[in-house]
Amino acid sequence: MARYYDEQVVQEIQDRLDIVDIVSETVNLSRKGNRYWGLCPFHQEKTPSFSVTPDKNMFYCFGCHAGGDIFSFVMKRDGLDFKEALELLAARAGIELIDANRNNKQVDRRKKVIEVNTAAAKFYHQYLVKNNYSTALNYLKERGVKTETIEEFNLGYAPDSWTMLQEYLFKKGYSQEFMKLSGLIKRSDRQNSFFDLLRNRIIFPIHSSRGDIIGFGGRVMGDSLPKYLNTPETEIYSKRKNLYGLFQARDTIRLMNEVILVEGYMDCIKLHQGDIKNCVASLGTAFTSEQALLLQRYTEKVVILYDGDEAGQRETVRAIDIMAQYGLKIDVVTLPGGKDPDDCMETYGKEEFLKYIQNNKISYIEFKINRYINAEKVLNLESKSKIITWLKKDINKLGSEIEKDYFIKLLARKLRLEENVVYREFATGINSIKGNKSRTNRDNIRYGNYSIEEKILAAMLFSEDIFLKIKNSIGVQFFSKQEYRELIEIYQQMEGTDTLKLGKMQKAAGERGIDAVLARIMVVNEDTPLQQIEIERFIKRVKKLREEANWQKIYRSLDKLQEEGNFINLLNFILNLDTFNHTQEGGIK
Ligand code: GTP
Ligand code: MN
Repeated sequence: MARYYDEQVVQEIQDRLDIVDIVSETVNLSRKGNRYWGLCPFHQEKTPSFSVTPDKNMFYCFGCHAGGDIFSFVMKRDGLDFKEALELLAARAGIELIDANRNNKQVDRRKKVIEVNTAAAKFYHQYLVKNNYSTALNYLKERGVKTETIEEFNLGYAPDSWTMLQEYLFKKGYSQEFMKLSGLIKRSDRQNSFFDLLRNRIIFPIHSSRGDIIGFGGRVMGDSLPKYLNTPETEIYSKRKNLYGLFQARDTIRLMNEVILVEGYMDCIKLHQGDIKNCVASLGTAFTSEQALLLQRYTEKVVILYDGDEAGQRETVRAIDIMAQYGLKIDVVTLPGGKDPDDCMETYGKEEFLKYIQNNKISYIEFKINRYINAEKVLNLESKSKIITWLKKDINKLGSEIEKDYFIKLLARKLRLEENVVYREFATGINSIKGNKSRTNRDNIRYGNYSIEEKILAAMLFSEDIFLKIKNSIGVQFFSKQEYRELIEIYQQMEGTDTLKLGKMQKAAGERGIDAVLARIMVVNEDTPLQQIEIERFIKRVKKLREEANWQKIYRSLDKLQEEGNFINLLNFILNLDTFNHTQEGGIK
C-alpha cells in the first residue's frame, strides 16, 4: 500500500509518460510553437482554447480554466479519484504498483503481447549479433548499415526455421495464446500446428511512438518474393495509425518542428544513420489521415521525400491531399532518376544529400503545378485552362491572401500566361469553391495567420509600455471588433504587473464571454510577437490614414462652402481648421 502515494512513483510516472500522448487519446491536438492546442474536452467550444505544454507537463484551458498535470487530466476526464488515476497511469507507464488491482483485463493482454514482441525482438537481434550470423550481417554491411544503426533500430535476423522462435518464446514462459495474438506464428492449413511467420529474413521491429514493439517487418536478403513480409494487424498494431521510426525520431521532430517522410524501412534508417534524425517512414502503404493526425502532434511541417519513380510521385500527391486537410505545411523533394533516399545517401553522402534536399525543396502547390505540366504532351490553351481549374481548388484553400497571390503569379509564369488572365480565371466561381467553414478552421490551425489588429492588440496587452505608447499617440478606439474594444476596457480596469493583469483578465473576459478571444490573442503573441519597428509603422499608418480621411472631409466642406458663396462661413472654417483636424477618429482596415 505504501507505494501508492510514494512521491517517487508519481515522479516516475510523470517522467515516463508524455502528457501530449495521454491527452491525444481524447483530444485532437495540433502543435503551435512550443504548445499544443485542441478543443477543450471539459467544455463546449468551437475555437481551440485548450493548451498543453509538454515541457511543463501541464494542461490549461483558456476557456474554462481547467488545468493541472497528467493526473488531474485523467481524473477529470474519466471521473476517477487520485488512486484510480495513479493505477491507470502506472499501468500505461509499465510500472508495477504493489497491491495493484488486476481488474483491467484488456490492458493486461496488450501488455502481454508487447512482452512477447519484446522477447521476439531480442531473439532476432541476438541471432544476428551474438551469433554473428554472417550472411545477414554481410548483407547489412553491403547495404551500408553500420553496427550502431543495427543497435539503434534493434535490427535482427529470423533464422531459416519453422519453429525456432516459438520454441524460444515457449522456453521464456509465453503461452501459445499470446504468440498467436502477436501475429508472429501462424496456423498451418494442413497440420494442426503453428509455424513461425518470419523466416530467413532481416528483421525490422516496428515501435509505437512510445517505444513499445508492436510489430515486425522482415526483408528477404535476395530477390525472392515477397520482398517484405510484415506481421498482421493485431490488437496492438494498426499500420494505419503508426509510422516507422517515429519513436527514434520524435524528439528531433519536435525540436526541429519538421518531419521528413520517406517510404521504406531502409530509407528511414539510412537517413538516421546520416544524422538526419527527423525522419519517419510510411512503409509503402497509402498515407492515412490517422498518420497525418499523429504527425500533427509533433510538428507543423512535413517534407515528403518519396521515391523518384512514378509510383513514388503518385503516392506523393495522395499524401499531400490528405495532409493538406490537417493544416500541415507541406514541402516536397523529388529525387533524381527514379532513385530512393537510400540510393541517394549512398551516391551523394550525407552532406551533399542534405544540400540537395535544401535546394530542391518546393511547396506542394508548386510540386502539383510541375506535375500537371509535365503530364501534358503539349501546353496549349486547353491544357493550360485545365491545369488552372485543377489548381484553383488547392490555391483557394490557402489561408492567406499573400500565399494565394504568390501561387497565382507562379502559375501564370509556369504556364506562360499573363498574370491578369490567371487572376480572372480565379475570380470566376470563386465562391462555390471557397467554403466558409473550412476557412475558419484552417485559420485556427495555421501558424501565424493573424491580422494586424490581433497582433497590435496582443502586443498592447502583453506590455504596458506599448499600451501607453499607442494610447498616447493614436488612442485605443481604433479596433473594428467590439470584442477587442472590450478587452481593452478590461485591461484598463486591471492593476498590477503585465503578467498579473493578464491572469486577472482571463476571469473578467470569461464573465463577458470573450475568453476564447483572449486565449487566441495570447497565442498570437507567443507565435508572432510584433517588433518595435512594426509598431512604429502601424502608428504612422493610422495617423496617415486619419490625416487623409480628414483632408478629404475638409476639401469636401471647402467645396460646399465655396458653392454656397458665403465668404464669412468660409473664413471661419479656415480659421478653425486646426480644431477640426483633431476631433475626428479615422478607422483602420
Ligand atoms: P529495399 O529494397 O531494401 O531498399 O527496401 P525499401 O525499404 O527501399 O523498400 P521499397 O522502396 O521497395 O518499398 C517501400 C516500402 O514498402 C518498404 O519499406 C515496405 O514497407 C513496403 N513494401 C515493399 N515491398 C513490399 C512487399 O512485398 N510486401 C509488403 N508487405 N510491403 C512491401
Ligand atoms: Mn530501397
